Amino acid sequence: MRVLVTGGAGFIGSNFVHHLVRHTDAVVTVLDKLTYAASQASLEGLPTERVSLVVGDVADQPLVERLAGEHDAIVHFAAESHNDNSLTEPGPFIQTNLVGTFCVLEAARKHGTRLHHISTDEVYGDLELDDPQRFTEATPYNPSSPYSAAKAGSDHLVRAWVRSFGVQATISNCSNNYGPWQHVEKFIPRQITNVLGGQRPKVYGTGTNVRDWIHAEDHSSAVWTILQRGRIGETYLIGADGERNNLDVVALILGHLGRAPDDFDLVADRAGHDLRYAIDSTKLRDELGWRPAYPDFEAGLAGTIEWYRDHEAWWRPHKQATEAAYAAKGQA
Ligand code: NAD
Ligand code: TYD
Repeated sequence: MRVLVTGGAGFIGSNFVHHLVRHTDAVVTVLDKLTYAASQASLEGLPTERVSLVVGDVADQPLVERLAGEHDAIVHFAAESHNDNSLTEPGPFIQTNLVGTFCVLEAARKHGTRLHHISTDEVYGDLELDDPQRFTEATPYNPSSPYSAAKAGSDHLVRAWVRSFGVQATISNCSNNYGPWQHVEKFIPRQITNVLGGQRPKVYGTGTNVRDWIHAEDHSSAVWTILQRGRIGETYLIGADGERNNLDVVALILGHLGRAPDDFDLVADRAGHDLRYAIDSTKLRDELGWRPAYPDFEAGLAGTIEWYRDHEAWWRPHKQATEAAYAAKGQA
């Protein structure tokens, strides 16, 4: 299978490319604009006869159409992905997440290419801390931020192109990912690299917000499962029962690195900060038989901390500018 992976030089996209090389016979083309969030280093060492990189924009219609015609499937990861950035500069989120997805859909329509669209559980808005419910495929859309609203819009575009034009697409909405190659702007890598650099973790608001953590490798295996066996037009929620509040995650990081559990700072909260996300992935498990390989969050987090300890040369160049941007917003 020839697979076009948009955003394949980003955090989850590059983990997915590694997954394809390790576990399948797929030949992969990565289409990536190489924004600040990308890392070519994440693709280094992969066999060149299996993986090639095209530097370009998913909103470049002629380019995406040409590539769609040369592949059997498109897995569409490319997006602006950080909520905090969407609050300071929403424009790129509209352009890439909405216009970019439109271009991918038109290309898939023209060539009849199988498409899997990657989305997030944040399209559903948030849950109360004491709500026994979790998100399911039937939960109404209710996004809070420019990021999640643009992702919600992209999901609606995919559904419309399936229904109106017969595009052969599936959608997945996954919970918060952690693992290697995640940019230091995101919560877990920011706190790990703060501690490794002798700084204190920075927790927004009260730190009681809950995220449902999943290892990026489990996200990859779920996406490959859906691409192979998912029903066209269907949405699958991906999650690994990893609910933790932010204070608990910071305590685990501090503990692993030998620091006191209260050795962190509470900083200014995020505007519109979603309280809690939680995924019910019963449909994916029952219908397609998927299971996570990293059900133990503490073990997966420990491995991730060690990965950042071993890869300081990768993250160090991005750390100063990222922290300066947080400092300008009172979050450092
Ligand atoms: P990321 O920011 O690490 O990577 C995004 C990649 O897309 C980068 O390599 C970037 O260069 C590329 N890109 C951005 N704009 C582009 C454009 N116009 N054309 C081509 N390439 C472009 O993001 P991530 O965390 O790996 O997220 C990947 C996907 O997974 C996104 O669609 C995101 O919404 C979704 N998702 C992320 C999470 C999470 O926890 N990070 C959870 C669920 C879903
Ligand atoms: P983040 O990694 O930005 O993912 P998302 O906004 O998609 O959930 O943030 C995860 C959680 O961590 C969220 O509740 C915001 C919080 N957070 C902090 O407390 N401190 C930080 O420095 C960052 C970046 C996030």
